[in-house]
Amino acid sequence: MKQVYLTGITTSGTPHLGNYAGAIRPAIEASTDPETEQFYFLADLHALIKGFSPDDVRRSRIEVAATWMAMGLDTDKAYFYCQSDIPEIPALAWLLSCQASKGLLNRAHAYKACVQENEASGSNDPDKGITMGLFSYPVLMAADILMFKANKVPVGKDQIQHIEMARDMAQRFNHHYGELFVLPEAQVDDSTAVLAGLDGRKMSKSYNNTIALFLPEKQFRKHIMKIKTNSLEPGEPKDPDGNTLFEIYQAFATPEQTDDVRQKYADGIAWGEMKQYLFEHLNELLKEPRDKYAELIARPETIGEILEAGASRARVLSQPYAAELYDAVGIKPMWQ
Ligand code: TRP
Repeated sequence: MKQVYLTGITTSGTPHLGNYAGAIRPAIEASTDPETEQFYFLADLHALIKGFSPDDVRRSRIEVAATWMAMGLDTDKAYFYCQSDIPEIPALAWLLSCQASKGLLNRAHAYKACVQENEASGSNDPDKGITMGLFSYPVLMAADILMFKANKVPVGKDQIQHIEMARDMAQRFNHHYGELFVLPEAQVDDSTAVLAGLDGRKMSKSYNNTIALFLPEKQFRKHIMKIKTNSLEPGEPKDPDGNTLFEIYQAFATPEQTDDVRQKYADGIAWGEMKQYLFEHLNELLKEPRDKYAELIARPETIGEILEAGASRARVLSQPYAAELYDAVGIKPMWQ
């Protein structure tokens, strides 16, 4: 049996260098393995939970899809689709909701963090501002995973609990209705790069310290120049470890190139010079995909066609499987 890898990308915001090094690049590399089956999808229904405007949702769907394509995802091999194009997913989420205990979901980190915030702010309603979408986020995510019988789910550490919840829901369902679900496992790869952002903290849209992947060249350079450094003067030896410029460089360089730059640090390269060096290195790597990205963004209908083709292939699997699951709970055409 082939290993089935599946992961979702929430369409909130514009893909940045950290997204690429941490998630997109490893996924694209893994997708060339003929021994595995890959499902990569835009989690646009999940994006709605975060309260983005319709325009933001629309733009992010296009940007995220174009990024994966420009970076070289083979969309004929991997299943690449929008979650919202697979109506069986929200249908399955309902079946799972009817199995998942509320107590299980009360323990979800994201939900608990919101409750704690409310309590800390002295509100007398611990659920203030919390939608059912946020509360049942892990159920929709379980449906994403179980729908395609994924056994490996590459995610960041913060998502491990969600995969465990998906297992829990699958087990309960299997217990009641027969062994219909494959139990998924989180795959956390400690070797994937976690990049620091402009201010030295983890690059993340929640810290507003990201460098978008496909900025026009001039703006891209400006962002690199903004990366925080310290007050060491040109000529003074500098420590590469823990240095944001170095870490970003390393995430995009060969070991030999990295050793060269280590030497430059020891020799006291000036921060301005190092920034220029990093800019030129990244710019060289991103030039071609940046052009491809621009072409794709200018033709959203092409992106749409590819995603729709991906969804059609995926629905060949999800439609009969959903019918089987409905049948298991007692819902099927009356005359059968
Ligand atoms: N919750 C994930 C995140 O924020 C995105 C996601 C949605 C996902 N559905 C998924 C990841 C299914 C893996 C599998 O990163």
